[in-house]
Amino acid sequence: MTTFDQILQIVSDVLLSQVKVLPIVGQIFVNRDLNGRVRLVVSDSVLANTSAVDALTAIATGLQERLGPHAYPAQNAVLYEADMASITAGVPYFPLEGFEGISVIDRLATESNWASITPESDGAPRIVFFSIKGGVGRSTALAVSAWSLAQAGKRVLVLDLDLESPGLSSGLLPIERQPTYGIADWLVEDLVGNGNTIFEEMMATSTLSHDGEIYVIPAHGRDPGEYVSKLGRVWMSKVATDGTRETWSQRLSRLIKELELRLRPDVILLDSRAGIDEVASSCVTELGANLILLFAIDGEQTWSGYRILFHHWRKSGTAQNIRERLQVVGAMIPETDTAEYFSGLRERGYDLFMEELYDEIPPGEVMGDRWNFDDSDEGAPHYPLAIHWHRGFAALRSLHARLETIDSQQANAIFGVFIENLMHIIIKEGENNG
Ligand SMILES: Nc1ncnc2c1ncn2[C@@H]1O[C@H](COP(=O)(O)OP(=O)(O)O)[C@@H](O)[C@H]1O
Ligand SMILES: [Mg+2]
Repeated sequence: MTTFDQILQIVSDVLLSQVKVLPIVGQIFVNRDLNGRVRLVVSDSVLANTSAVDALTAIATGLQERLGPHAYPAQNAVLYEADMASITAGVPYFPLEGFEGISVIDRLATESNWASITPESDGAPRIVFFSIKGGVGRSTALAVSAWSLAQAGKRVLVLDLDLESPGLSSGLLPIERQPTYGIADWLVEDLVGNGNTIFEEMMATSTLSHDGEIYVIPAHGRDPGEYVSKLGRVWMSKVATDGTRETWSQRLSRLIKELELRLRPDVILLDSRAGIDEVASSCVTELGANLILLFAIDGEQTWSGYRILFHHWRKSGTAQNIRERLQVVGAMIPETDTAEYFSGLRERGYDLFMEELYDEIPPGEVMGDRWNFDDSDEGAPHYPLAIHWHRGFAALRSLHARLETIDSQQANAIFGVFIENLMHIIIKEGENNG
């Protein structure tokens, strides 16, 4: 019996059986379709070469025998393509491990695949707040960060992209200041070219801003309206009259760019959705984030979730494009046995980064150019930025009311290490981005 996880290994084994002939075949794409069935795509110029065609026929037969329901019938398993460049236009692909010139095209039913990673934005630093689980204090930390950055005179732009479980904006805005529209409204209006009409009415400034400014773009307006109906459409791609397609995360990027031009923030904070979810994927990988905060509470669910993601980045050959933007945050660190809890968290974080993302240092070699950190290096991505659990923040009825009365000393005791580091990173990013 063959199941999904064995597909790539079996494909590799079957290709290896013809390894001598592969160079004659040239470029090969392994296309794993929406149903998880595999066929090969090669250039039709190969047809002129009988030994290459024989090898491909043998491979097709091998695939049918060994992949079972995940294979195409051998006679249809190889596509001879006239225009090889068209095969990969607009679709992500990654190298098949151990082979040169062989790539896997992995077709997903979802638009996001966690592996199309856009370069860092060169505008105001974009910071994504992400977690595997919900309820870990992510939105609260974001609101406090905004408050704190505004205290320090920064202009902060905050977007609530947790569209399926919105709520961040209520922490920063009292009900009477909520704008009429939100991000979901813009995404829906944009589909019919009507985004501009609501643009000015989807932003509000927080009364919590001191010397700086906090601009809040909520998920929905004061009256959510037909939110469910809008939510079911926000993920739509937009097709222009000339046929060009803009994915929903490209549309979202366009919105962020427009907001950036309009509001000129010093820093942009994005509240992502939790989990290995399509919207979260977009926030983490496709919005040009400069820093991705990985909120973690110590537990199997957290680490196995992050392991799945890191592993995917490594396997798809994209880890290098994203790993330097990652930073673990130790969320809700308990009041009791604090030191013990923290070192457990740090250790688990280190093990995970070591396994999946840090470069191996061969014996005898010094770290040099390799991307690797000591377990105890406080500046390392795996070293958790601590946020403490505090009774004064547990089960709040109104975060806004809480933030109105918080003072710097209190904020420091709970969020100090986290915010200090954040400030540091923002200054550094700001300098890099000029
Ligand atoms: N540092 C903290 N200490 C104690 N409770 C907290 C803390 N941060 C948040 N909370 C509480 O935990 C719950 C979830 O917080 P929230 O910020 O909405 O989490 P998330 O955005 O991760 O789902 C809320 O009831 C909030 O008041
Ligand atoms: Mg939240």
